[in-house]
Amino acid sequence: MTEKFYIITHGCQMNKCDSELLASILTEHGYTSTDEVDDADVILINTCSVRDTAERKILGRLERFKAVKQERPELILGVCGCMAQSWGKELMDKYPHVDIILGTGRLSELPRLIRKCRELGKSAVDISEEPSEIEIDNTMRESSVTAWVNIMYGCNNFCSYCIVPYVRGRERSRSSGSILQEIKKLDESGYREVTLLGQNVNSYGLDTGENVDFADLLVMVDRETHNIKRIRFTTSHPKDVPQKLINALGDLPKICNNFHLPAQAGSNKILKLMNRGYTREYYFKLVDKLRDKVPDIAITTDLIVGFPGETEEDFQDTLDLVQRVQFDVGFCFRYSPRRDTPAATMEGQLPEEVKMRRLHELLEIQDEISVAKNAAYVGTVHEVLVEKVNPRDDLQISGRTSTNKIVFFNGSEELIGHFVNVRIVGSGNWSLRGEMIKEGENADLYEKV
Ligand code: SAH
Ligand code: SF4
Ligand code: F3S
Repeated sequence: MTEKFYIITHGCQMNKCDSELLASILTEHGYTSTDEVDDADVILINTCSVRDTAERKILGRLERFKAVKQERPELILGVCGCMAQSWGKELMDKYPHVDIILGTGRLSELPRLIRKCRELGKSAVDISEEPSEIEIDNTMRESSVTAWVNIMYGCNNFCSYCIVPYVRGRERSRSSGSILQEIKKLDESGYREVTLLGQNVNSYGLDTGENVDFADLLVMVDRETHNIKRIRFTTSHPKDVPQKLINALGDLPKICNNFHLPAQAGSNKILKLMNRGYTREYYFKLVDKLRDKVPDIAITTDLIVGFPGETEEDFQDTLDLVQRVQFDVGFCFRYSPRRDTPAATMEGQLPEEVKMRRLHELLEIQDEISVAKNAAYVGTVHEVLVEKVNPRDDLQISGRTSTNKIVFFNGSEELIGHFVNVRIVGSGNWSLRGEMIKEGENADLYEKV
């Protein structure tokens, strides 16, 4: 009988993509996936270390698995992802019911570790910093419409607050040939959208010796795809967004009108302490350049409040930046000290109450902006790529605009994977409501409903 596996995923898109790769590897080795955690012989928790709240959630989950493991000792419980890399064996010492610890660069070692556990009845740890391989065939994608494609791994930026470079290692880009091969396969099997992933996609290609940079890669993807009509990417570091890339955004029809550009803070003093490598003035100029080239672009961001040494005035600079730029979405976080990072030992660590108050203040302002941005969509018509049936209402389907706004509207399952024109009739702070329109190329599809 084949063993069944179940994967729980925390963290960013890179982790979601890794979970698909892990599922692909296990399937390749004869395991089958199950949707029922109680049914699984192998359970993997793919973890995130980026903030304390993320780690605490995962530790709580691990704690709860203690009883499950006691009831079913033959169950293999594995921890992979960023926390596995950062905590290593320490995690096993704290939670002896964990059987496997697998590092972020060692995905393809998983079947070997499971065998070791089964055969020797012993736990197994592999968090070697030597990446095992970066070419894994992703055969277990969650969606049949949109696909994630890793174009690079790791990060070299060492922002002073961030644990990612320590848990994901140095930047390693995949060759353009193998990226294109993967994307062409997706194109042939009917995918409509790809999202190119990396911690800092702008430095793609610096290490391949191919003389293909990120903008060149976008041109290639745009040119070599037919079914795929949309290209997204994340994340870009503001310090290296060359004019060539901005031009590509404006010139290549498939690149979506959405740019995630983490600002992190609005005070030059804090940006310097964060080791971000740009000033607020530079950031404003960059936003202007993007909007000059693509006027309807939706700019989204990440912001941290309560960084060590952040005074009330510094915080006001962040609020001012948010007011000036008018982001479509701002992901706002309280600074959380991470192990090994320089910021964790900086002077001027702030009390939680201060961080919390600033977070609420920032959220209030950003929410208001997001609500207004979304409200401005009401009455306009947008092309929406239909992705799924609304799990809370099966008469509704949902998809996204080029600007990455989620739109819910009445429609049937058959429309999944199709582009339809939708008139926006309502809005909230996270999503829009719409009605399909009958005009133009939509007419045929509309009749099906
Ligand atoms: N590579 C991406 C994002 C990585 S982590 C980038 O450079 O933008 C995602 C977001 O988490 C970051 O943009 C940052 O806003 C936030 N973050 C990272 N470390 C953090 C910390 N120690 N405390 C609070 N937020 C943090
Ligand atoms: Fe972290 Fe900075 Fe790298 Fe992003 S660019 S992953 S914030 S170190
Ligand atoms: Fe992503 Fe969290 Fe790791 S944000 S890279 S899963 S620390």
